[in-house]
Amino acid sequence: MPLACLTDFQAFARERLPKSTWDFIEGGADDSFTRDDNIAAFKRIRLRPRYLKNVVNVDTRTTIQGEEITAPICISPTGFHCLVWPDGEMSTARAAQAAGVCYITSTFATCALEDIAATAPRGLRWFQLYVHPDRQLSKQLVQRVESLGFRALVITVDVPKLGNRRHDIRNQLDLKLNLLLKDLHSPKERTSMPYFQMSPIDSSICWNDLSWLQSITRLPIILKGILTKEDAELAVKHNIHGIIVSNHGGRQLDDVLASIDALAEVVAAVKGKMEVYLDGGIRTGNDVLKALALGAKCVFLGRPILWGLAYKGEDGVKEVLNIIKNEFHTSMALTGCQSVAEINQDMIQFSRL
Ligand code: FNR
Repeated sequence: MPLACLTDFQAFARERLPKSTWDFIEGGADDSFTRDDNIAAFKRIRLRPRYLKNVVNVDTRTTIQGEEITAPICISPTGFHCLVWPDGEMSTARAAQAAGVCYITSTFATCALEDIAATAPRGLRWFQLYVHPDRQLSKQLVQRVESLGFRALVITVDVPKLGNRRHDIRNQLDLKLNLLLKDLHSPKERTSMPYFQMSPIDSSICWNDLSWLQSITRLPIILKGILTKEDAELAVKHNIHGIIVSNHGGRQLDDVLASIDALAEVVAAVKGKMEVYLDGGIRTGNDVLKALALGAKCVFLGRPILWGLAYKGEDGVKEVLNIIKNEFHTSMALTGCQSVAEINQDMIQFSRL
């Protein structure tokens, strides 16, 4: 039976993957309240369609940081793709290139950055950086990324410490033993540097350190994980180029707002001075439309990409992207939008339930 929606891929992946891998992908922090609320919150928003508007030609294209994408649906950084499919991130990169969307490659990628860039040379790629306590290593990595044609640097701010993932504790999951994180290594050393030396994330990083990052790269800097107006205002003050409103798929601090519920506050705070994006809980074309109606320029998918990868590698990710892009096209037509620019706040209302 063909798979018809993103949750069909979820069911397939659950069957196919070993339990510890499935739990690692699917799990949230603590009670997984925020992970589940990311999904539930979209269902609290209702659509207000407008009819008789000629939707023969619906155009889903848009831009992010000045670059065209075929639809405002891109790929969030997730680590360890080789846990799910043999050539992991390389399959993901090819699928993103074929779909004409942006792929944010994680610091915890399990294929070398050189190989990811070479396998999809025309794809739009951003790089997600966890700043390492050894700033020299981070500087080398940023310079490597820039020379490989990655077009933006995404700094994930919501991991000063890893969230409490109970299922990984119960499963005694040890990613270090399974995989080598090739992207952290210099090309020469990339098979010899042990993971444990390379994996720490700098918990001392502060707003003032952003000027150091800005001094070592010409790439636009985007902050991933901002949830409040206070931090959004600081991002404007520090000349940041974009924000991804995100709670890490509910894997870091539990009991924070669902991403979609935090979006409007952040959009209002930046006053149009930078693009605002969103990830967390996007599963349908209607979800994409709701996020854009609340001011997101584009959304990103986390787990659904891994479900597609588990299904059929590159082809599975292509299918996932294709299905949600088609759903979004239908959502636009059925609400009366010919172009992404027409999507606005009047198209939604919050349900009283
Ligand atoms: C993540 N996420 C993540 N984020 C990040 O900045 N760097 C990373 O390496 C990872 N790794 C990672 C692994 C796995 C298995 C998951 C599920 C998530 C978080 C990710 O970028 C994104 O914020 C969420 O996954 C979005 O929520 P959905 O789409 O999964 O609901």
